[in-house]
Amino acid sequence: MKKTKTFPNNFFWGGATAANQCEGGWKEGGKGPSVSDHYTAGSRQVPRKFTREIDPNQSYPSHEAIDMYHHYKEDIVLFAEMGFKMYRLSIAWSRIFPRGDESAPNAEGIEFYRDIFLECKKYKIEPLVTIQHFDMPYHLCEKYNGFADRRVVDYYLNYCRTIFTEYKGLVRYWLTFNEINALSHSFGETLGGGILPKEDADMGNPFANSKTESPEVASRRFTALHHEFLASAKAVKLAHEIDENNRVGCMIAGTCVYPYTCNPDDMLASQQRMNMGNWFCSDVQVRGAYPHYAKRYFQEHNIQVTKEPGDDEILKAGCVDFYSFSYYSSACASADPEMKKTAGNMMGDAVSNPYLKASDWGWMIDPKGLRYFLNEVYARYEVPIMVVENGLGAADTLEPDGSIHDDYRIDYLRWHVEQMAEAIEDGVDLIGYTPWGCIDLVSASTGEMMKRYGFIYVDKDDEGNGTLERIRKDSFYWYQELISSNGESV
Ligand code: BG6
Repeated sequence: MKKTKTFPNNFFWGGATAANQCEGGWKEGGKGPSVSDHYTAGSRQVPRKFTREIDPNQSYPSHEAIDMYHHYKEDIVLFAEMGFKMYRLSIAWSRIFPRGDESAPNAEGIEFYRDIFLECKKYKIEPLVTIQHFDMPYHLCEKYNGFADRRVVDYYLNYCRTIFTEYKGLVRYWLTFNEINALSHSFGETLGGGILPKEDADMGNPFANSKTESPEVASRRFTALHHEFLASAKAVKLAHEIDENNRVGCMIAGTCVYPYTCNPDDMLASQQRMNMGNWFCSDVQVRGAYPHYAKRYFQEHNIQVTKEPGDDEILKAGCVDFYSFSYYSSACASADPEMKKTAGNMMGDAVSNPYLKASDWGWMIDPKGLRYFLNEVYARYEVPIMVVENGLGAADTLEPDGSIHDDYRIDYLRWHVEQMAEAIEDGVDLIGYTPWGCIDLVSASTGEMMKRYGFIYVDKDDEGNGTLERIRKDSFYWYQELISSNGESV
């Protein structure tokens, strides 16, 4: 066990959730439906389905989730008990603008989040707010096809203006789009971009090969991503104008890809995957311009990104203040078409690493990859960094005496905290850590409750049974001690 005094005194220890995976109350308080409300429950074997109409014979896990809509006060008390300095949550856009294109917001939605932020303030917990986390108002998807339509940039900005103004003084840290690079893969089109499939369809599977797209479809997707870049850049500028204390970050699915062998072909394959799958979005958001390698990629895939004069200046004027990312696993790239295709988080056709073990959901566990990735990010951008998602999705057992012994989760987190300490000693400016699903919530990829990440157990199963009671796991006490010792007890 490594003892360390590495973490700075003001380090943001905390946890992360997203509205669509924990709030529930999908029709309460004036909320409109969001795209995630149209995804059914799935499992490791059965993909989630997107349905245009809500089918009464199907279960849609976001509709109730863990009912944080009614439990947030007790949940924040538990976060405070662990000693959280930061709580990452998302605002459900359709609670503020139920359809997305109204001019006036929904007052009840605004007050809901104000109360959450006031609760956080009571316990000196700094909120970190994701503005858009996989839950665009459904009306914007149906009417405009999400970010494929440039007008949606203005609706997003209207939403940003509202929340920046309403929560001025209560919220200082913002993330414009969760895992914006989901949209640089074909599976991210609907949840990431709000672009609806023509018919009911299986959810794009992040763990299988990317589906084959025509150049027209790929062009629409990259144009939607361009619109998100514009929206993000304009939001950064607006946030700074409304409050000079605001700090806005990008949020990237950290896809750490190694070459499978030292064959130069594998080196190039891994570089290409890192470029378009990982660096592309943050190069735009941190540096304010499309990177050099994008041109060739677009040419070779016949992709046309529809831009307007002045867009380059907008991107340049809206560079983010910090870089944030999710990190669960790593994968390898091989140029050999015969290599077995295996799983990793948002890795598409990545090859598995023979030196690593995988979680029960097939995600490779690679703590040292986190140190490597942190160093790569910092060398590239030299801005402050936060790890805003990390954790082990695992099935937990509730013992008859009410305890949950999740030593596997403690191990996973400990190994990653040790590697963050190493990265800080390497010189990386890491300022925060908010592990994912600090309270059990609905899995984004499978729609299950069974895939749990939390320090806090929620009594609910995949069939929707349970009391919703919140129960402290062993990891709760481990994390509490870790925070109170500022990382030394790791
Ligand atoms: C990230 C998302 O990709 O991974 C979260 O930002 C998601 O929304 C998390 O929940 C873990 O993935 P999953 O599929 O295990 O819930």
